[in-house]
Amino acid sequence: MAQLWGGRFTKETDKLVYAFNASVSFDRKLYRQDIRGSKAHAAMLSKQGIISVEEEKAIQEGLSSILKDIEEGRIEITDEYEDIHSFVEANLIERIGDAGKKLHTGRSRNDQVALDMRMYTRDEVVETKSLVLKLLTTLADMMDKHIDTYMPGFTHLQKAQPVTLAHHIGAYFEMFKRDWLRLSDIYERMNYCPLGAGALAGTTYPLDRDYTASELGFYGPTLNSMDSVSDRDYLIEYLSAAAMIMMHLSRFCEEIIIWNSNEYRYIEIDDAYSTGSSIMPQKKNPDIAELIRGKTGRVYGALMSLLTTMKGIPLAYNKDMQEDKELVFDAMDTVKGCLALFEGMVSTISFNKEIMAASAMNGFTNATDAADYLVLKGVPFRDAHGIIGRLVLYCIDKGCSIDELTLDELKDICPQFDEDIYEAISLKTCVEKRLTTGAPGHDAMTEEIKACRAFLKNAV
Ligand code: ARG
Repeated sequence: MAQLWGGRFTKETDKLVYAFNASVSFDRKLYRQDIRGSKAHAAMLSKQGIISVEEEKAIQEGLSSILKDIEEGRIEITDEYEDIHSFVEANLIERIGDAGKKLHTGRSRNDQVALDMRMYTRDEVVETKSLVLKLLTTLADMMDKHIDTYMPGFTHLQKAQPVTLAHHIGAYFEMFKRDWLRLSDIYERMNYCPLGAGALAGTTYPLDRDYTASELGFYGPTLNSMDSVSDRDYLIEYLSAAAMIMMHLSRFCEEIIIWNSNEYRYIEIDDAYSTGSSIMPQKKNPDIAELIRGKTGRVYGALMSLLTTMKGIPLAYNKDMQEDKELVFDAMDTVKGCLALFEGMVSTISFNKEIMAASAMNGFTNATDAADYLVLKGVPFRDAHGIIGRLVLYCIDKGCSIDELTLDELKDICPQFDEDIYEAISLKTCVEKRLTTGAPGHDAMTEEIKACRAFLKNAV
């Protein structure tokens, strides 16, 4: 048991208490951030004359050698230390002696952990953004390719009106675009440096917080020292953005699972992204899509968990906050893994265009267009709606689609029908006539894809 705070105690910590309290098993992930923060702190202490130039030099060299030894596997961060901060400090003192004992001047583990976690999360936000961007690029490429791939659009999972695959994918482009923008917003709000807040009330040493903030790539120091050590809002914001990404992935996965089903057969998932059954030789299962859908629960859980942890915490630092790490780390790894896998899966799917188009042609997806046709011939829309309703019933009885009826049959139901009805309700017309901004018609989609491309070009 290696602790930084033995002085006031007359008894050894109970072993179970020690293990319960320790965080090194999971905060060891923060070693890079911890060392980088300590280096900036030491540089500032020497600039301010709080430690000597020689002491700073020894600290810098000691910290660099610790980093190198960890990265090259010469030392291991073991459970012998309470947390990553104790590990680094104890190692430094072992290496350079007394100068090492000065590193923690004007600092507390409270502002130290707040700093480490912010730096870690900042990098995660950037990484997640780039994975979302990669997926967006893939989706834009698919939109280009499938601007004329017809398929039914659904409401209530019932065929509604025909759309194109490009149009369907474009809906997901918008969702992931908002995710990307959300992550950018979070970065802007969180990129302030809590180092120098001390335990909660700042410090009496003349620290230069602007200096450390800028050395560490922050926009500036955080303002209120009590908030600085107890703010975990940025983690909750990150988890909320991550939960939303997972929700979008999960919705898309659900559609992939449906489209891949024996009943739909719209798509073929690539062998590399499918799995088999141990008993049923014919099976090719969409496990990856199902797993992504399933993992959404973990990320939602992390969000609810941290919200709940934080809800009753009085100012300022309380140990409850140590609970932020495991679930946030897990959510980060989950969302990144799912984004990468999803991109690989979706980009290798092959689409059965004929089946999709045939599916768009049955199920009366052109019923609205048939009603609109009658409106053009002077029938009020509400009447047209009723007439086409009766027509659909007639077709269901006969087991055919509207365009399979003869003109005489159509005229029997409504005399306003003419020869041009067939052209007016063809699949192509139904899609291509929808040209309002954001609609599936070719020209409208071309504009939408242009806007997507412009977004991608400016997304940095
Ligand atoms: N392991 C702690 C955490 O993750 C670091 C801060 C400890 N501070 C303290 N006063 N016990 O929150």
